[in-house]
Amino acid sequence: MIQLIYPEKTQSLFTNRVTELKALEFYKDKLLRGEANKIAFIGTRRIGKSTVLYEFIKRHSADRRLLWAYVNLQNLVIEPLSFSKSYIGLATKWALKDATDNFPRYEDPEFCMLQLQKLHPRAAEHVYQFIKASQNRDIPLKSLLELAFSFPHILSERLKRPFIVIIDEFQEITAFKNFKQLPEILGFLRAVLQAHNRILYVFAGSYVCLMRNIIEKSNSPFFGQIKPYYLNNFDQNDSRLYLGKLCKQSRFELPVEAEKSVIQSTAGHPFYLELLANALDEAQRLEGIELTTENTQKVLLLQLVNEKSPLHLHLRYIYEDARGSAILHGILKALAKAEPLSITEIANRLSRKVGAIQIALSELMKVDLVTRKNKNYFISDPLLRWWIYFKFYHPEGAFSLQDQIVQELSDDFREKYLQTTLELGRAKEFELYYFVSKVQGQQVGGVTLPAFKTLIKNYVLPNGDEIDLFARNKESWVFELQWKNKLVGMKELQKLKKKIQVDRYVLISKRGFTKAPRAYAEDSSDIILWGAEVLAQA
Ligand SMILES: Nc1ncnc2c1ncn2[C@@H]1O[C@H](COP(=O)(O)OP(=O)(O)OP(=O)(O)O)[C@@H](O)[C@H]1O
Ligand SMILES: [Mg+2]
Repeated sequence: MIQLIYPEKTQSLFTNRVTELKALEFYKDKLLRGEANKIAFIGTRRIGKSTVLYEFIKRHSADRRLLWAYVNLQNLVIEPLSFSKSYIGLATKWALKDATDNFPRYEDPEFCMLQLQKLHPRAAEHVYQFIKASQNRDIPLKSLLELAFSFPHILSERLKRPFIVIIDEFQEITAFKNFKQLPEILGFLRAVLQAHNRILYVFAGSYVCLMRNIIEKSNSPFFGQIKPYYLNNFDQNDSRLYLGKLCKQSRFELPVEAEKSVIQSTAGHPFYLELLANALDEAQRLEGIELTTENTQKVLLLQLVNEKSPLHLHLRYIYEDARGSAILHGILKALAKAEPLSITEIANRLSRKVGAIQIALSELMKVDLVTRKNKNYFISDPLLRWWIYFKFYHPEGAFSLQDQIVQELSDDFREKYLQTTLELGRAKEFELYYFVSKVQGQQVGGVTLPAFKTLIKNYVLPNGDEIDLFARNKESWVFELQWKNKLVGMKELQKLKKKIQVDRYVLISKRGFTKAPRAYAEDSSDIILWGAEVLAQA
């Protein structure tokens, strides 16, 4: 079954995700011991959520003690009747281990029933009930949905095996909100799934904010029910490993200089690493260019502006995902031109009321397109920012590597884009996160770090302020990066102390500190100042 969604060529590229796979194995073993749980994998678009789930299935689905199903809700949640049929169909196909590419047949419950009758007649009864219910004149949508969601539970009982049900793009379920005949969907679903005591539910979802609302908001029916895991970009090492595999597969070589540049400009995002590596391979083959740092960045720029490139198509899709009103696109364009901007600045630029902008911004943050830091807003993904910028402010059309304009654009882009990826700290924040998780429990930069129980990157405070890294065991620590080309003074230190009250503050500055904070830190054990060289030890 898994080969249908996870081709061998992709399998051989699989890299990292050790923590996530360990977590999955941990809960699988718990299930085998009789304990059913719900967990979730959350991360931005194309970060590798589905891939880690496929890899987990690939490694373990031969285990005959368990039943498996993978259901992707993308494009499945259209209306309750067809959804219910598809859900039953997928569960049946997985239970029967039918590895042929014939899913449409399983969308017909009668076909499912016949197939089950041959092997598991007692499970077929449930599908028969579903068919009967769906033939009612007034189709009882709520009962159909309940019968569908209960089907894995029935299979698990009748086949006497615990079941791992993986539901990808889980947030799509909220689309059922619009059906009047249905009860509040999350509460309903929680009540149905609660009875499934032999099923490990693994949810995955893009739209980090939406998923967090489902899992972490105190008024959500799933509050406290699902253990979340967040997927991040690859660190330097894994990025290098992954690029190595990509190059080996396509039989091309990436000089060290270009490799460094690829990692830096993609901040270790697996999908971007893959796209850029492929584009470089092609540029080298077709145009015979040398893979220098400069050419690497030019190729990235060309990928952004070339309407047929996979990167362009992906970013256009993300941009168009901000469906709804023109105001959302208006905000994105304004930010692309001049980010970061405050609410008032955006409102002025668009000649709209602050209230309307505020609502639209919260929509954009819900789907991870926009991030807020210290009352300013910017586009979360720097590559998306540049895509919008080129699309709307540089409509010259097709470019080729030889054009003079590409040289000019590329100089500008290199300076500003890399500045944003570094300065808004995405790449650095990851580095900090990995650094602290690696050296915790050790003596580093003049202090002994405790072994932390929790490490949260980009920790958002109730007022919307953000902390680069929040760490806790018995004590709470915060780590904050100052990655500008100037010395950090008392102002930055006081600002950090005002944001949050914790036991220790670690401030990390690229250029170092002025005298005042250094003197202050000597007298206060709660302040720790690190220069860039501390992180460079990693
Ligand atoms: N651990 C990994 N090892 C190797 N390649 C990976 C890994 N994770 C992701 N990729 C690559 O990145 C791309 C996106 O991955 P995937 O589809 O799993 O992301 P996703 O988070 O599920 O995306 P979406 O938001 O579109 O559902 C894939 O093409 C895959 O090849
Ligand atoms: Mg996915």
